[in-house]
Amino acid sequence: MTAFELIRALAHRATVSVVVTDTTIASPGPIILCANEAFGRLVGRDLIDILGRSPRFMQGKETRRDTLDTFHRALAAGERFHGYLTNYRGDGSKYRAEVDCRPLHAADGRIEHFVAFEREVVRRIGRPVEGAGGRYEPTRVSNDLLTDGLRDLGLFEHA
Ligand SMILES: Cc1cc2nc3c(=O)[nH]c(=O)nc-3n(C[C@H](O)[C@H](O)[C@H](O)COP(=O)(O)O)c2cc1C
Repeated sequence: MTAFELIRALAHRATVSVVVTDTTIASPGPIILCANEAFGRLVGRDLIDILGRSPRFMQGKETRRDTLDTFHRALAAGERFHGYLTNYRGDGSKYRAEVDCRPLHAADGRIEHFVAFEREVVRRIGRPVEGAGGRYEPTRVSNDLLTDGLRDLGLFEHA
């Protein structure tokens, strides 16, 4: 089983949003090959309208170009991008997304896909806590085991 197949199977009914793309970095890529139902709910679109498109469809007026440049550089270097983006839903409403995107390697080391775990966060009220995620907190606390497992692996900055 490849990492792609494993993630697809695990993500199916998970509450954490998962999206997998090919490795084409320049437009029209990266192309979305698979996304779970939670991702469809997060971005407010039917999965059928997402597959085959680039995640750029979520961008809008307040999506920061400098963050996208950092994202682009990470993809081009085959490195992890973990950051916060302003995304737009199908109905035009915006939300703050925590995006943890990583390359998936084949046995020979080649990058085969990119996978991102995404969730909505809001600005934390009060004093920031330690770490990159200190200014934000998730809008929903999940009791999904996959989300717990990913958190244990350090995928998201905070609970
Ligand atoms: C798996 C994956 C998930 C992504 N999710 C988002 C996202 O939620 N919002 C967003 O604005 N860009 C997202 N992107 C980044 C864009 O697809 C694109 O790479 C980014 O705009 C930088 O490229 P550009 O400089 O050509 O615009 C994602 C990329 C990948 C590979």
